[in-house]
Order: sequence, then structure tokens, then C-alpha cells
Amino acid sequence: MVTIAMRSLSLLLAAFLVCTSLNKCLALASAAKLVKSSAICGNDWYYFMESEACYHIPTEETPFASALSYCQGLSAELVSILDSMEYGSVSLILEQQEFVEPYWIGLQTYEYTPYFRWLDRTNAGYTHWINGTTPPHTDRNACFAWSKTPANNGWFQVDCQNPLPFICKRNVKVDHISRYNATAGDLYSPNYPRPYDADSVASYYIQVPYSYIIELTFDLIAIDSESFIKVFDAENLVAIITRIDRAPIQIVLTTNTASIHFNASEAGNAKYIGWSGSFRAVIPTTTEGSWTSPNYPSDYNANESITKWVQVPYGFSVAFTIWDFDSEPIHDYLTIFDERGYAYLNVSGHGSTLPLSVRLSSHTEARLYWHTSSPDVYRGFNLTWVADPNYG
Ligand SMILES: *[C@@H]1O[C@H](CO)[C@@H](O)[C@H](O)[C@H]1NC(C)=O
Ligand SMILES: *[C@@H]1O[C@H](CO)[C@@H](O)[C@H](O)[C@H]1NC(C)=O
Ligand SMILES: *[C@@H]1O[C@H](CO)[C@@H](O)[C@H](O)[C@H]1NC(C)=O
Ligand SMILES: *[C@@H]1O[C@H](CO)[C@@H](O)[C@H](O)[C@H]1NC(C)=O
Ligand SMILES: *[C@@H]1O[C@H](CO)[C@@H](O)[C@H](O)[C@H]1NC(C)=O
Ligand SMILES: *[C@@H]1O[C@H](CO)[C@@H](O)[C@H](O)[C@H]1NC(C)=O
Repeated sequence: MVTIAMRSLSLLLAAFLVCTSLNKCLALASAAKLVKSSAICGNDWYYFMESEACYHIPTEETPFASALSYCQGLSAELVSILDSMEYGSVSLILEQQEFVEPYWIGLQTYEYTPYFRWLDRTNAGYTHWINGTTPPHTDRNACFAWSKTPANNGWFQVDCQNPLPFICKRNVKVDHISRYNATAGDLYSPNYPRPYDADSVASYYIQVPYSYIIELTFDLIAIDSESFIKVFDAENLVAIITRIDRAPIQIVLTTNTASIHFNASEAGNAKYIGWSGSFRAVIPTTTEGSWTSPNYPSDYNANESITKWVQVPYGFSVAFTIWDFDSEPIHDYLTIFDERGYAYLNVSGHGSTLPLSVRLSSHTEARLYWHTSSPDVYRGFNLTWVADPNYG
């Protein structure tokens, strides 16, 4: 509910910021500032939906290093500008300020291409240098500022000791929920490979088909020391992953539903790229097991089709025993296939001689298919399987 309310507010705000002239933009940006004293970013912060970020310009002017720690004290970072849209949005804010000096921005030189990156460690793929002049990238300690005057609109290198105004940026707290219903998929922290949002929770709900189990792999863990990832196997907490855990991490669950909750701390704002991983459905390997029709020994359901996979260890064959079977003849039946789709057994009705045994010689894997129609329903079946050491 809260998220929806926030979103519609953002849409409203975005509509405000569609403007055709500078004066109109100023008026609209002022309106935005009023709206901005809302729950999204806090008082005296501006919010832009496109970047899902909050911006703040303190009233003081300081050298680069103390501007940096000032922003960090607000759980923010000196501003990063990731694209032309964000450049335009932040320009609207700058146009409202009284300052005549340029503003510190969170840009640094970097030894690899594109040779500049932001304090949040994202590469500066977009830049807006004054007069299109890229400064040398060889000075590792260079500081950069944003001039917003008619003659000089853009970024340039400035002596770090100059006292200048500055722009802080903080990602909005947005809680993410993702749902997966598939046999495989990729999982990422929000914004990956850009930094995740501080002080937020991202939840992932995964379901793979019936009779499979979920295998999770985390390939990369780059989170701050106060953030953590909780993994639930159905409802049970089975792992808490923190910064000290070394990827790759593989977790094999026991059920076909999982949830992952990534709790991103306030401390990690805009500095850590997060984590990546994947899930896939696997058939659990067993040496024995049992299965029944739904509700057994009470009547099963009409109009149902259920597939169940059974796998025994390598070198064993899988052997089934049906102990009890009672269904509507022809309409309701149980079939046991090998993994190639060859039917070893197809049983229906009331008359079977029980128990009924079948061994899938030279097969470690079986697919069981239970199909019912309508209207009559009966007790159904129970069966067991074992891994048989006779393979051929
Ligand atoms: C950029 O170009 C303008 C117009 O030619 C000029 O006035 C200004 O000094 C230039 N800025 C820099 C930093 O070279
Ligand atoms: C998941 O997908 C299956 C097959 O497409 C579908 O039958 C099932 O209803 C889906 N489950 C959810 C929770 O959406
Ligand atoms: C993240 O976890 C901490 C500690 O369990 C908890 O206090 C905090 O409320 C969680 N954050 C969110 C946004 O739920
Ligand atoms: C089963 O499906 C048939 C045909 O679609 C329908 O007439 C019948 O009502 C269904 N029965 C149940 C119990 O859903
Ligand atoms: C299967 O059903 C039969 C008959 O109801 C019962 O005797 C047997 O204990 C059941 N076996 C299993 C494994 O449930
Ligand atoms: C199994 O038997 C049912 C009827 O009893 C039939 O509809 C179904 O096609 C059969 N399956 C196979 C694989 O032969």
C-alpha cells in the first residue's frame, strides 16, 4: 500500500516536471520542492522518480573532503549523475539555488576505461564536461565540480581545498518484491550491477514445479557488513548470508518453494554492488520414498493431472510397488514412464492384482503421471519406491 501511494505521488511529481521553458521549469520545480517535504526523502530533499533518488544541497560551502563526510553523515553520497535525464533533473535544482560557485560532485578518476567513476563505484559512462573538454585522468586525487552558469554549464576539475557548495544524493528506500514461477532463473540484488538501495528489503519468492526441489547458487556477494540475505526453504530459515561468506555458495533446499530476503542496511548506501545468483529446479535423488493420490485414503479430486519425478542414485535402477489402487476405470489412471517417455505401467479401475511391482531396468529416473477426470472419484493409490542395486 505504502509503495503504491509513493508511486502515484512520484507520477504526479514527474508530471509536474514536464516543462517547456526555463521559467515554467522553475515554477514546477518549486512545486516539486513542496511536494518533496513528504515521506519519500525527508524535508529539504528533492525527489526524482526517474532515478529513484533524493537530492539535497546543504547551505554551507566546504572543501571536498568535508563535503563528502557531510553527505555520508546523512546516509548519502556526493552526487553521481548517471545519464542525461538525471543531469537535467539535478539542473532544475541547481537553477533554484542562490550559490554562484560550482558544486562538488562525487566524481573520481579511475585507472581503467572510461577513466572516471562515481564514488558509488559506478563507471561514469555519461559525462558532461564544460565545453566538451575532458580533463586529464592521471591525477588520482583530482576533485570535480559542476558549474551552472550560462557560459559554463558542466563539470571540470577544481582544487579540492576550495570551499564550495555541494550536492548529496541518496537512493530512495524502495522495497522490491519479485516472484518467480519457473524451472530456472537469475537472481540479482536491486539495481545490480549498480549499488543497491540502503535501508530497504528486497524479497524474492520462488516456486518450481511440484516434486522438484530448488537449488540456489550465489555467484557473487559484495554487500556491506550490516546487510544480510536470509534464505527460507518453504517457511524454514536455512541460511543467513553475510559479507564474510565466500561465493560461490550453493544451497540445495528440500522443497519446491523458497523465499530470499535481502535486508540492505542504512550503512551500505550506494557503495556496494550487491549480489547475484540463480536458481534451478532439480529432481531430488532418493534411495526410497512413497507417494499417494491426494487425500489418500479418502477420495481423490476430480479433474487433476499431477506429474512427479523420482530419481535414484547413479548406478541404481528405480523399482516401484503399488500397494493399493482404486480408481474410475479408463477415466482415472496412473502411468509410470522412464525419462524417455516409455510407459512401463498404466493402471486404472478396481481390478488390479495387488501389490503390483515394476522395475525400470537401466533407468535411474521415472516420471509418474496421475490423471483424473469427472465425475466419480475413489480412494486412489499408495505406492513406494526403492533404489534397486540391479541396474540392468
Ligand atoms: C567554455 O566556452 C565558453 C564560450 O566559448 C567560454 O566563455 C568559457 O570560458 C569556456 N569554459 C572553459 C572552462 O573553458
Ligand atoms: C506456476 O506455473 C504453473 C504452470 O505454468 C501454474 O500451473 C501455476 O498456477 C503457477 N503458480 C503460480 C503461483 O502462479
Ligand atoms: C533489517 O534487519 C534488521 C535486523 O534484523 C531489522 O531491524 C530491520 O528492520 C530490517 N530492515 C528492514 C527495512 O526491514
Ligand atoms: C471437471 O471438468 C468437467 C468438464 O470440464 C466439468 O463439467 C466438471 O464440473 C469438473 N468437475 C469438478 C469437480 O471440477
Ligand atoms: C498402502 O495401503 C495399504 C492398504 O490400505 C496399507 O496396508 C499399506 O500400509 C499402505 N502402505 C503405505 C506405504 O502407505
Ligand atoms: C493409460 O490409460 C488411459 C486409459 O485408461 C489412457 O487414456 C492413456 O492414454 C494411457 N496412457 C498411455 C501412456 O498409454
